[in-house]
Amino acid sequence: MNAAQPQPRHLRSLLDLTPEELHGIIRRGIALKAMLRRGEPHESLKNRTLGMVFEKSSTRTRVSFEAGMTHLGGKAIFLSPRDTQLGRGEPIEDTARVLSRMVDCIMVRTYEQAKLERFAAHSRVPVINALTDRFHPLQLLADIQTWFEHRGDIAGRTVLWVGDGNNMCHSYINAARQFDFRLRICCPRGFDPDKDVLEPARDRCEIMRDPLAAAEGADLVVTDVWASMGQEEEQAKRRQAFAGFQVNDELMARAAGDALFMHCLPAHRGEEVSASVIDREDSLVWEEAENRMHSQKALLEFLLCNG
Ligand code: CP
Ligand code: NVA
Repeated sequence: MNAAQPQPRHLRSLLDLTPEELHGIIRRGIALKAMLRRGEPHESLKNRTLGMVFEKSSTRTRVSFEAGMTHLGGKAIFLSPRDTQLGRGEPIEDTARVLSRMVDCIMVRTYEQAKLERFAAHSRVPVINALTDRFHPLQLLADIQTWFEHRGDIAGRTVLWVGDGNNMCHSYINAARQFDFRLRICCPRGFDPDKDVLEPARDRCEIMRDPLAAAEGADLVVTDVWASMGQEEEQAKRRQAFAGFQVNDELMARAAGDALFMHCLPAHRGEEVSASVIDREDSLVWEEAENRMHSQKALLEFLLCNG
């Protein structure tokens, strides 16, 4: 990074933004969604380009960013290791230096958080974490927007995370700090979230072992796959370890009467969630997925226009 160059803002995790900034993005995501519904043009990123580096698969993240950049009047470029020099060993630092001289913002989906952070450290433009093994902040922007649309402020509410202490769980822990809600984390022993993520949020989070007890009175129930991308060979072992941690009708019946259910998708029906819960007539998961697009548009505006 050139010393004369101003430091760009990044979203490496939810902790990179203040609670006020995050609330502003949620409000703007809701407004942008309404503008799109009314057919109102909102080309705030005309002639701006988003680079999208994907080292793992994606449906929602890729399409929400591509469609979102189209709405904002800009363009997104999809880059996979198969077609770029990254796949042939070009260092991540060099890739960051080069791409950030050409595009206005870069999102990166990769394995190690450290790799994403090295990328950001060598980028002249904002870098967005589009999922690492450790965090998935973009999904939280969408989930919190969805909550606000249906229930208003989430401060003081009780959220239950059931399942693996994975990247999504870590981002829920960060969200509990930033949006001020209580988080019950119900994982089988051996699958807890990382201590260094959990400890600073200890005043808002508790680890529980019994899913039915943990569900008691919860306002929001959230889960995710038992084996994340990169853990495919552990699938069978994890299926055993997580037996009893499924979000199903019995568990939802223990939650608050108007409890909402969320899942970042893709989902494995019959594993972490029963079909009866995810496929309910009024299931929110489709709106939650759509909100990826609206909240990311708000984030892009924040990083490129105000950040
Ligand atoms: N939820 C989510 O990030 O989905 P994709 O893996 O399809 O992008
Ligand atoms: N925990 C999942 C989330 C997918 C969006 C994974 O990392 O594969």
